[in-house]
Parts: sequence; structure tokens; C-alpha cells
Amino acid sequence: MSFRIAPSILSADFARLGAEVSDVIAAGADWIHFDVMDNHYVPNLTFGPMVCAALKPHARTADGAAVPIDVHLMVQPVDALAAAFAQAGADLISFHPDASGHVHRSIQAITGAGCKAGLVFNPAQPLDVLDWVIDDIDLILVMSVNPGFGGQGFIDSALRKIADVRRRIDASGKDIRLEVDGGIKVGNIRAVADAGADTFVAGSAIFGQPDYRAVIEQMRGALR
Ligand code: DX5
Ligand code: ZN
Repeated sequence: MSFRIAPSILSADFARLGAEVSDVIAAGADWIHFDVMDNHYVPNLTFGPMVCAALKPHARTADGAAVPIDVHLMVQPVDALAAAFAQAGADLISFHPDASGHVHRSIQAITGAGCKAGLVFNPAQPLDVLDWVIDDIDLILVMSVNPGFGGQGFIDSALRKIADVRRRIDASGKDIRLEVDGGIKVGNIRAVADAGADTFVAGSAIFGQPDYRAVIEQMRGALR
């Protein structure tokens, strides 16, 4: 599975989001990670489907190829917003199973709308639900920080959970991406990959730097 770098726009300049998306794609980003927060499921409030729709035209490479918008829903309830983001151009939509009363139905709402579906696991959240739905999803997102804010420190227990998820994905025989989100830096991305991750969210590590290409290249260098 090839590595993917997914910059989180939570740490971008909110006064220039369109330009920031274009710039980070020009700097080599593979996906755009879109952190949706409702100030209910998590103690922060970010952006909704209208912002996703506004940014969709900017999610393209210089030669016009579409760059996947990877929507991470930190919201409760899930289904109505998932449908709205599908309409707004999301390519992948992931949600926290503890934020949905009916996880299997929420997955169906996402895949039924033509999007790839993912489940997101908080640091203390067990993986048991995967026993019953791993065959229905395309992405598993392991949180290595508590959701809500960028710039936090990496929680080391996530490495053990990543290894467990990697075992489950390999046993499933399915083409499921293993994404990790929170506290990813040039200095730890290799250890996260060695634990079994193939897709890396980074917000402050990228948008906190003046040269996005340089830091993305450093990340790719650490992964090689
Ligand atoms: C945290 C978000 C993460 C966050 C990552 O609630 O889900 O995507 O933006 O930010 P950094 O990379 O700064 O930890
Ligand atoms: Zn996220």
C-alpha cells in the first residue's frame, strides 16, 4: 500500500482556505483532511458542508487531477451531516462509532451516497466494532490525540492500536487504508508507519511551517 500524506486544514489559515488548499496540494499533499467539529461531540467548532463545497474546486493538482477530500466527522449525530458532506463533494467520510446510535446504518448512509466510509477510534476506544463491520469500510482512522484541537502531543499507546488494526486489516484481505491522526511530525512518522499505518494526517507540522513542500518532502524522506 503506497503512503499518503493528508494535511489537516484545521491548522491552515482560515482567512485563506482556498489558497491554502491549492498551496498544500502544489507542495505534494495526497489528500486534504477536513476536520469537522460540532462543539458537541468535541469541544471545538470548525466548518460545515458549505465550506467543503467551496473548497472542492481548489482540491485539484496543477494538471487538473482531483485530490480526495478526506472528511473526518467529529459530530453527533452523524447521518444527516454525512449525507450533506457527500452532497458537498467529500470523497471519504469517516465518523466515530461512539457518536452514532447505529454504526452499520451510518456506514450504509455514507456508502449509499457514493463515498468511501471510515471509522475513527479515539485513544481509549476499543476496536470491537470492527468484528462486525470491517468488510463494509474503506478506511480506519486511529486517533493519536484526543479529538478537538491541533498541535497536541502524540499518544504513544496509539502505536499498539495501529499494530492491532494492521493485523485486522491483513486478516480481512480487504483494501482498507490505515490512517493516523494527531501529533504526526517528521520525527515520528516513520515509527507510525513501522507500526502499520499507510496514511498520515498532519496539521500543525505542515501548516505551521513556511515551506509546505520542504516539510512534506522531509516526511516522505523519513518514510522511504
Ligand atoms: C484533532 C484533529 C486532527 C488534528 C491534527 O482533533 O482530528 O486532525 O487536526 O493536528 P496536528 O497534526 O496538529 O496534531
Ligand atoms: Zn482529523
